[in-house]
Amino acid sequence: MLTQQAADAFTVLTGTAPTGVWTSPGRINLIGEHTDYNDGYVLPFAIPQAAYVAASPRTDGRWRFRSVDLNDTVEIGADGLVPGTSGWHSYLAGVVWALREAGHEVGGADLVLTSDVPLGAGLSSSAAIECAALAALADLNGLDIEPMDRAKLARVAENDYVGAPTGLLDQAASTLCVADHALFLDCRTLETSQVPLAVSDAGLEILVIDTRTRHSHVDGEYAARRASCEEASRVLGVPALRDVTDLDAALAQLPDLVGRRVRHIVTENQRVLDSMTALAAADYAELGRLMTASHVSMRDDYEITEASVDLAVDTALAAGALGARMTGGGFGGCVLALIRADEEQRVADAVRGAFADAGLTEPVTFVGRPSAGARRLV
Ligand code: GLA
Repeated sequence: MLTQQAADAFTVLTGTAPTGVWTSPGRINLIGEHTDYNDGYVLPFAIPQAAYVAASPRTDGRWRFRSVDLNDTVEIGADGLVPGTSGWHSYLAGVVWALREAGHEVGGADLVLTSDVPLGAGLSSSAAIECAALAALADLNGLDIEPMDRAKLARVAENDYVGAPTGLLDQAASTLCVADHALFLDCRTLETSQVPLAVSDAGLEILVIDTRTRHSHVDGEYAARRASCEEASRVLGVPALRDVTDLDAALAQLPDLVGRRVRHIVTENQRVLDSMTALAAADYAELGRLMTASHVSMRDDYEITEASVDLAVDTALAAGALGARMTGGGFGGCVLALIRADEEQRVADAVRGAFADAGLTEPVTFVGRPSAGARRLV
């Protein structure tokens, strides 16, 4: 439906049908939070919600970007490709810029965007846009770029053009995920593996609870966490926190706050590896335990959760979830609960009830089904 919507809007804008429509999904990180910029491990899967880009080349060397959802159109030439430019179109312009910076020939184009990835929910709405635009521009310009290199270019757009100092998690997930699998990514070696995520075979599902709370200071807090990790690496004399092998010795050298940040990263990396083992053994009780331990670590050591997120986790666990944790950058957004499929209604109702009692906005719930990564649709 969104494919058609993007194509129709393109035709209205330009008077002709698009050359093609490309899509790239949002993601859920099953476990491995804030480990990506510490050269660590992550285990995301793609969700059905995605960005869609209908596009055709132009002959005048200019780029026109249209957002169907915002009903806004922006047109720029090469002199308009300025890192740090704000606005929704920076996620598209940033990809043009990143491709050109990397030496690729990128001709002008019209790109029409629509997306159903919830904004600000920690589900990577921005990476979905970047990776869909990258897929479109690569094809329109006949660029042969490997999937991991696409993810890296989309990250360059996010880091250097949009200006958000993120790791590779979101763009790698959006580009590389395949249906019914989680993606294991070693963020240092960039080694990946597709991990079957067949929770439904065990009568389970991953319930996503969008708390619909987001804090405005997310960007500053994210950058502060990243800075703490880099500072700790310097003090400890390691290239990245990935390299901390003796946690107790490391903690002895660090002030309490920084030590807790380090403890989260080191233990979270181990939890990703342990989750891989649990998934291979279809040991979902253990996976649930690891998810909850991850949440506790984010709450107490990394301090990136907040009251509504903690309430969703605690309520889901009290209602029988095998495990629950916040996903994404933090300070609001979504919680995942690993639950028995036949208990979905009960868990969702319990969370809704707890939110109502606490005077919070009603949360939105949906089932996280591992979906496909970036691709051309038509
Ligand atoms: C955001 C960033 C990612 C990653 C997560 C936390 O989604 O974009 O790079 O750091 O936060 O795991």
